[in-house]
Amino acid sequence: MLKKVVPWGKVLSYKKQKDELILEGEKESLKIEVINDKIVRFHFSKDKNWKHNYSFAIEKDLSKKDLDFEEKSSEIIIKTKFLKINVCKENGKIVLFDSQGNLILSDYKDLGYGRFKDKVFSFKKMGEEKAFLGLGEKVGDLNKKGKKLVNWNTDDPHHYPNKDPLYQTHPFFLAWTPERSYGIFFDNTYRSYFNMGEESDDYYYFYADGGELDYYFIYGPTPKEVVENYTYLTGRYYMPPIWALGYQQSKWGYSEAEKVLEIAKNFREKDIPCDVMYFDIDHMDEFRVFTNDPIRFSNMGEFIQKLNEIGFKVVPIVDPGVKKDVNFEIYREGIEKDYFCKKSTGEIFIGYVWPGECAFPDFAREDVRDWWGKKQEKIINMGVSGVWDDMNEPSSFPHPFEPISKSLEKNNTFWGQFSDHEEEIFYEKTFPKDVVHGKNKEFIHDEIHNVYGLLMVKASFEGWKKAKPNIRPLIITRAGFSGIQKYSVVWTGDNKSWWEHLYMSLPMLQNLSISGIPFVGADVGGFGENCTPELFARWIELGIFYPFLRNHSELNSRPQEPWAFSKEVEDISRKYIKMRYRLIPYLYSLFWEAKERGIPPLRSLILEFPEDQEAIHNEDEFMLGSNLLIAPIYREGAKARSVYLPQGVWYDFWNKKAYQGPCYISYYAPLDTIPLFLKEGSIIPLWEEQNFVGEKSQEILELMVVPGEGKFIYYEDDGISWNYEEGEYNLIEFINTGKTLEVRYLYKGYKSERGKFRINVNSVEKIIEIEDNGESKVIEYS
Ligand code: GLC
Repeated sequence: MLKKVVPWGKVLSYKKQKDELILEGEKESLKIEVINDKIVRFHFSKDKNWKHNYSFAIEKDLSKKDLDFEEKSSEIIIKTKFLKINVCKENGKIVLFDSQGNLILSDYKDLGYGRFKDKVFSFKKMGEEKAFLGLGEKVGDLNKKGKKLVNWNTDDPHHYPNKDPLYQTHPFFLAWTPERSYGIFFDNTYRSYFNMGEESDDYYYFYADGGELDYYFIYGPTPKEVVENYTYLTGRYYMPPIWALGYQQSKWGYSEAEKVLEIAKNFREKDIPCDVMYFDIDHMDEFRVFTNDPIRFSNMGEFIQKLNEIGFKVVPIVDPGVKKDVNFEIYREGIEKDYFCKKSTGEIFIGYVWPGECAFPDFAREDVRDWWGKKQEKIINMGVSGVWDDMNEPSSFPHPFEPISKSLEKNNTFWGQFSDHEEEIFYEKTFPKDVVHGKNKEFIHDEIHNVYGLLMVKASFEGWKKAKPNIRPLIITRAGFSGIQKYSVVWTGDNKSWWEHLYMSLPMLQNLSISGIPFVGADVGGFGENCTPELFARWIELGIFYPFLRNHSELNSRPQEPWAFSKEVEDISRKYIKMRYRLIPYLYSLFWEAKERGIPPLRSLILEFPEDQEAIHNEDEFMLGSNLLIAPIYREGAKARSVYLPQGVWYDFWNKKAYQGPCYISYYAPLDTIPLFLKEGSIIPLWEEQNFVGEKSQEILELMVVPGEGKFIYYEDDGISWNYEEGEYNLIEFINTGKTLEVRYLYKGYKSERGKFRINVNSVEKIIEIEDNGESKVIEYS
């Protein structure tokens, strides 16, 4: 690969233009912008035209810092408070140091920017990087060092260990070193490739099939700061509607309204909490989008109300494919207004999804997004509480529902070899290459493909906000691109009821979280094939710690509700789902941290223990916030596992036994037990058990206080409206000194029913009340 790439060459001259430094090369040039003291943008032009002057991922206006630079005989040096950047005049090589002069990252030779035909490359020298994390939704190990990956949103239900790519594209990675972690966001929506040391120990590289080399270097030095700075660029999730943290039930094949109601009532009768029922494609009228079957799902408004009355919210599926049917209003309107994607020849592109022949809205157009958002009002007005956007890679089956060609089956991976044959594979399950997008057909499909899902979800979110301006929705999506977290939950698509896929969710969700998406989950129990009782028990034990907790399975798979297996599994499910409901105030407070700083609730150990060299080898554990360490059982028949406990004292959640970390322990975990540990000094706010969020008023908040020193900021608001954006929320700080607990308002803007806290420590209970004058109340507990 290396030999084919032509480097950009010598820097011939330079000039400062407003906040930018422009370095002129022979044929190509580089623009450097300092976004802040830790984020620097390197934007190379193709033939000096910097066409990429927009971004689908970064939607805010980035203010820039004045750029401080000097020229030396052989290099140009740019300085920020934390960084020193050297550009060599002779060969354009860029090297980044921290402010003390420690090397962070260097281009590989003169190949920091290079081209081969339309492809744009950046080669970096492999240095101290011990792990590459992030890169969105990928199968395989947490650490992508030594791997090669490709980004091309693909609907593929066979998530084998070498399957790449899947539904989402996140051209962002976090390079972890114990001292100086950094990240790179490659802001390019074309098919992109990351070779993280698979080709050589000496370098790693990334490239795209088109567009420009436009990337942001993001400094930490801790991994958390890298994620914080990355989400500063690409955006952060809002406060979820609080009920969306409850348990959610779905199945493709709940074929009529009565069936859904029966399942919902069963939850209540069986005393298993649940907040959301999903409507999969079964509810539609011959799969026409935004419709419902006139017989099996008639009187939707009334029916949804019945569910609401017993404490359930409803979220229906929405697919982008619009059935080709001249009698179908949305199809007709789309044709009349010229809203569908077309081929370069001018004819409407017709693909194949559940309804058969379909046309697809051109979401790259703002007017089409507005139209779609408006059409969505039909289901919103029936009383749904969110939208589930699916098949938006965009997925289009091979014509007409033929098995996928042999080339795709054989080539399990899409890694680019620059061969024409390989190119064909990319278009087998989606739009053909010659589809064009945009009002003036200004985008080729290769540029829009990876953001089609993001743009559909943006339409859903914005449409929702217009229809229900003061109610937060639950929007979930399968496809996405960097920045999707501004709008939506991401679930990991069609996994299977396999032990390997329970395991796979661990690194996958950790990397999605590092990629800036806090609200993530995998289908609990597995989507495809039949779940076994033991697998379901182990999966629900783990699933209650996923930020997004949904049980979903495919048509014709065995029933997968918590009671569908055995009394034992039902009891285990009840115990753990109830525990999840107890933890909701803790999780909700973590979502506040995600909203404020982009730090995800589900965390790889290295986010919490950035200097711990052992932590990176334990992808089969994760943390929920800073306080809970979860080490699930993921092997059939296993009743024990080894658990790594990082630095500090850890308490077994079940029997309170203490362990001094760092250490490995062997842990016995019979079927009803998940290994779970509390960090010393933890303070965990808990609710009373309830059947659904809002059933009980939760006037007194329980605090589980663990011996040791620690701190926690508890967040609360009304849980449903956007009023928190106007300051209607409370922040309460708890400080644990090991002997006392100090409680005080950091901020009070919301009139809460709560005001009292019941502290539960060493089995002693004490009630405290605090005033909103900022003064602390101190309670001695030991
Ligand atoms: C896709 C989705 C799956 C859904 C099915 C039918 O495969 O990933 O969750 O159940 O379509 O709508």
